[in-house]
Amino acid sequence: MKILIVGGGGREHAIAWKISQNPNVTKIWCAPGNGGIARIAECVNIKATDIEGMVKFAKEVKPDLVMVAPDDPLVMGLVDALEAEGIRAFGPRANAAIIEGSKSFAKELMINCGVPTAKYAVFTDADEATQYVKEQGAPIVIKADGLALGKGVTVAKTEDEAIAAIRDAILDKAFGDAGARVVIEECLEGPEVSVLCFTDGKTICPMPSAQDHKRAYDHDEGPNTGGMGAFSPSRIYNDELASVCMEKIFRPTIDGMAKMGRPFKGVLYFGLMITKDGPKVIEYNARFGDPETQAVLPRLKTDLVEIMNAIIDEKLDEINIEWKDDAACCVVLASGGYPKAYTSGYTITGVEVAEEMKDVIVFHAGTKIKECCGMLQTNGGRVLGVTGLGATLDDAIKCAYAATEKIDFTDLHKRTDIGIK
Ligand code: AMP
Ligand code: GLY
Repeated sequence: MKILIVGGGGREHAIAWKISQNPNVTKIWCAPGNGGIARIAECVNIKATDIEGMVKFAKEVKPDLVMVAPDDPLVMGLVDALEAEGIRAFGPRANAAIIEGSKSFAKELMINCGVPTAKYAVFTDADEATQYVKEQGAPIVIKADGLALGKGVTVAKTEDEAIAAIRDAILDKAFGDAGARVVIEECLEGPEVSVLCFTDGKTICPMPSAQDHKRAYDHDEGPNTGGMGAFSPSRIYNDELASVCMEKIFRPTIDGMAKMGRPFKGVLYFGLMITKDGPKVIEYNARFGDPETQAVLPRLKTDLVEIMNAIIDEKLDEINIEWKDDAACCVVLASGGYPKAYTSGYTITGVEVAEEMKDVIVFHAGTKIKECCGMLQTNGGRVLGVTGLGATLDDAIKCAYAATEKIDFTDLHKRTDIGIK
């Protein structure tokens, strides 16, 4: 079996790592891939958002399956474009990926299906939005409607901050078209949990819960990042909460999408806030999370290719998905300065030493192999995700951090409190 994976971050490395364990998989391509993925797949220099280029390549090499991992190609309709050429593709079609691509769509869906979420209003006019903020008061949350590379959300502590965020989005077009419309939300409070679910549009199989750490520095301080680490399971997501979420959130969402003629097939990520009134949805993502995937997939016992095929064929009810009891913790090693300016091109040492340690997997994100000498170099903000497994979460955290000690590059930055919250 030949598989093409679309994307090139730590999440895609974890997906490629898992897929490569299937003995029937004889070839993996990854576009664009990275320095770590290059060891298990042929990396192809096509951007994940180059829909035309990706379809052209898939038509040439004829993979048995294309796994589309990132949000933008899903929202842009890569799965639809591949299917139109008769190529089997994993991931939601554009009409379902809109659940992540438009926050106002997601909010309307939640209201129509009775899914608990923050109170909200939608605006395209800056003055009306400002008026609403003045009526509601702060704290309040301003969100660009469309995809904004994870930067479109402002949790404003003051009215002024909220009004500035509205100006940025609507008038100054800081997020381009994605911010022409804004969703303004009530500010909720409580711990956050990510639950990723496999779904074929009918059957829902939640994966073990996870939590990520978005802020750059310890104690959740500093600017928001793509994620500085993740762990699984969450310490607060118990069986009781899981059954409430299935009944009040997961099931109504999947059924609501199907009823609208937008069956969601793929991985649906529920970003939840556990408030004192119960779990509420903060966001939906139409895909595996990054870095949650690097903490969740190592716990999956069942073959991922089998699961993806069952989802495409709408036969998820026919398979049994099994998970290891082990906990997992993924610590991100970033370039100093990230998420703001940073330098790339530094030599990375010690990855092999870390990989030889028991229960350690090193996933690459921003790395590349220098052509002239074959040396591994930094090539992005988030460079590596070091995952440790253990019988308990504390063991997994210790294992991951012990492995990070073996790895070095200039200006390496990591948080020291992943999994501690
Ligand atoms: P998002 O990009 O939608 O994941 O939002 C980024 C972060 O903003 C979330 O992980 C939350 O920490 C925070 N956030 C989003 N919506 C709300 C809300 N209604 N109340 C409080 N915090 C929020
Ligand atoms: N870790 C959050 C995300 O993947 O969007």
